[in-house]
Amino acid sequence: QTIYLKDYKPFGWQVADVHLTVTLAPNATRVKTRIHFEPNPNAPAQDFFLHGEELTLIRAAIDGTEVTPEVTPQGLTCTVPDGPFLWESDVEIAPAENTALEGLYMSNGMYCTQCEAEGFRKITYYPDRPDVMATFTVRIEGDEKVKLSNGNPTDSGEGWAEWHDPWPKPAYLFALVAGDLVNHPGEFTTMSGKDVELNIWVRPGDEGKCAFGMEALKASMKWDEEIYGREYDLDIFNIVAVDDFNMGAMENKGLNIFNSSCVLASPETSTDANFERIEAIIAHEYFHNWTGNRITCRDWFQLCLKEGLTVFRDSEFTSDMRSAEVKRISDVIDLRARQFPEDQGPLSHPVRPESFQEINNFYTATVYEKGAEVIGMLKRLVGEDDYAKALDLYFDRHDGDAATIEDWLRVFEEATGRDLSQFKRWYSQSGTPHLSVTEDYADGTYTLTFAQHTPPTPGQAEKAPQVLPIAVGLLNPNGDEVVGTTVLEMTEAEQSFTFEGLSSKPVPSILRGFSAPVVLERDSAPDEKRFLLAHDSDAFNRWESSRDLARACLYAMITEGDGPDMAWIDALEQVIRDDALDPAFRALMLALPTQAELAQMLHAKGVTPDPDAIYAATETLRNAMAERWSALLPELSGQMRVDDDYAPDAEQSGKRALGNVVLSLRTRLDGGAAAQAQFDAADNMTLQLGALSCLISAGAEDKALAAFEAQWKNDRLVMDKWFALQVAATAPENAAARAEALTKRPDFDWKNPNRFRAVMGSLAMNHAGFHAKDGRGYRLLADWLIKLDEKNPQTTARMCSVFQTWKRYDTDRQAMMKAELQRIADRPGLSRDVTEMVTRLLS
Ligand code: ARG
Ligand code: ZN
Repeated sequence: QTIYLKDYKPFGWQVADVHLTVTLAPNATRVKTRIHFEPNPNAPAQDFFLHGEELTLIRAAIDGTEVTPEVTPQGLTCTVPDGPFLWESDVEIAPAENTALEGLYMSNGMYCTQCEAEGFRKITYYPDRPDVMATFTVRIEGDEKVKLSNGNPTDSGEGWAEWHDPWPKPAYLFALVAGDLVNHPGEFTTMSGKDVELNIWVRPGDEGKCAFGMEALKASMKWDEEIYGREYDLDIFNIVAVDDFNMGAMENKGLNIFNSSCVLASPETSTDANFERIEAIIAHEYFHNWTGNRITCRDWFQLCLKEGLTVFRDSEFTSDMRSAEVKRISDVIDLRARQFPEDQGPLSHPVRPESFQEINNFYTATVYEKGAEVIGMLKRLVGEDDYAKALDLYFDRHDGDAATIEDWLRVFEEATGRDLSQFKRWYSQSGTPHLSVTEDYADGTYTLTFAQHTPPTPGQAEKAPQVLPIAVGLLNPNGDEVVGTTVLEMTEAEQSFTFEGLSSKPVPSILRGFSAPVVLERDSAPDEKRFLLAHDSDAFNRWESSRDLARACLYAMITEGDGPDMAWIDALEQVIRDDALDPAFRALMLALPTQAELAQMLHAKGVTPDPDAIYAATETLRNAMAERWSALLPELSGQMRVDDDYAPDAEQSGKRALGNVVLSLRTRLDGGAAAQAQFDAADNMTLQLGALSCLISAGAEDKALAAFEAQWKNDRLVMDKWFALQVAATAPENAAARAEALTKRPDFDWKNPNRFRAVMGSLAMNHAGFHAKDGRGYRLLADWLIKLDEKNPQTTARMCSVFQTWKRYDTDRQAMMKAELQRIADRPGLSRDVTEMVTRLLS
């Protein structure tokens, strides 16, 4: 059944307050619900319907009199009085049997919940939609030492605890946790002087991995006060780490629940990248308190209203905490790796989708990351001050609302006087715009002429021009900037912009900071790219120039059999040697485009990508870099050594990042000697894992792999890395076999989403391995997707997207992938989640 945005209609009743009494038992938890309903004057007449799935209804009553509702697998309908009434229900549920990890479930003996988007209906009968907001009072009964819910604790006794959340919220923000947990405490005083108690709750044994998360939480609270003027609004803020979790984390009011991989950290067990990600996710969930919770979404089509904005806010936070330039480049790498393939394939959908069958399938890179790009463009167009004005108005006007994208754009229109009707296309039009550009210079006047065009996407054959903020700078032939960064506002399909009074033809630096999420098509000469690589003041474009040269070089190697572009390698060497540059930036400069990105590029140029040829070219190029720099590399390793005590800050992480890239090049020359030395001496996970990765690539890993396993066999999160790396870093011809062998181990706990993804997600990331000609990778993955779907549809459906590029490849591979998708589609009893995904993939 498909649900449409255009069919929105308000719920017929308002909920004054919700009282829940939850009596915990693994196989028979009782949930007693009391709700005061009153008619909603703004809603059309309708039957009284409450969502409810997988519930056993024990009793229902209206104003104290028992009633017999009509119950279906989706919910119940009931005859109700005309005016206000008290609704009561008792249901029974079995959290221990809940392997879908949605609703109330158990993870390693603790009770926890995940309700977004539509999980609350697996806990009790309720109007489970985000525009129904209510205050909640929750009583939890059970022997567990710790019993938590949203809001503030109000009372507790032997075997029970009560919580009250004074802020009206939709059911998707409900949470409950109970278990024998221990806390890492903290404290924060808000800008108006209110003391807030903070806690990170973990299983005993993990207390030592909470300090970093706690500091990140405090930094986030402070930052949101300083930058957005947003203050926290309860007496307590709790975070809980859960081992079995379908996603990264969840912003439940006052009780954030995290995948343990996204909150637990220590130098010995976490990489620098883990630390940075944890800091960002803690910030993201915390920021949702205002962008998501205080102002929520009217319906799930508006998901980007909270997610795009909150991703944008967390990226601003990371930029402030670390290097803004490095963050921007990393975000663009991620956007191109995850969002572009989505937007350019069968799963393409607008930032605000207009229909869905299963909303869980729309927590996508398009809604999140492209949604954040759209806000970045808006901010660039209106400027910092007007952005701040619009946001103030948004918080003022919509606090307590379930809002829409129209509401969001209206505050910008009112705060700035701009007409955003064309800009709004970013929310409705799917696909990645392509932007081409020509230049002209005569008599001191320089003209840039742009043309934009968005290829058709499923359901949208015709595309209209988008508003594109194009940040441009101009350099003179000496490398000095003659026109600093200027934002050109393109609105037409084709449009020219002129710059006057130039004494010579400038070199343009176009789309600085990646100011719009487009594919820029510009075949400028390699020496112009090398010039920008050497001189551009915009870090993003400096990186992009080098990336373009790498792409062109790999393209020629793959399609023409050319050798590596030594001129690029030599130009890059100047950057790598420049110790005035941030090592993190230099590490990004040294990385090559991924093989998946190269496949996408070849496909875009009308060449059928051959994964083996792409792999071979990438290897040849890396070997050439290693040989050319054989003297420089050991020298750089020395410079990147960190002698201070470990800190996961930007400065030290940058050094280790560059050190690890350098190590991977050196491994091509020394067979792994330096990597083995680094592995043996490592006292932190970044160095240990970086070395292990090199050893696996070199096929010299046996000893290190065994040592790593012996050291970490009792740490689930570290063992996830051990599983993942073997599949990701192994040579393509061994990847599927290795993944398959790992699935036979007793500790391949496939019902744990982290472990499943460690093996299967890594297989899909090993481009040439997944796409091996014999089809073994495809088969293995499909086998496991079929198996997992019976237990956990959400994680299965999400992973189906690894097939989204299937139409790019040669006819043999296409036929094999199609057959696997069809095999999944034909499974009797396939979940709604996976059915929708494979149907879209096959369409
Ligand atoms: N709102 C959560 C976040 O962005 C993610 C929830 C994902 N839910 C889902 N059903 N996929 O932090
Ligand atoms: Zn979010």
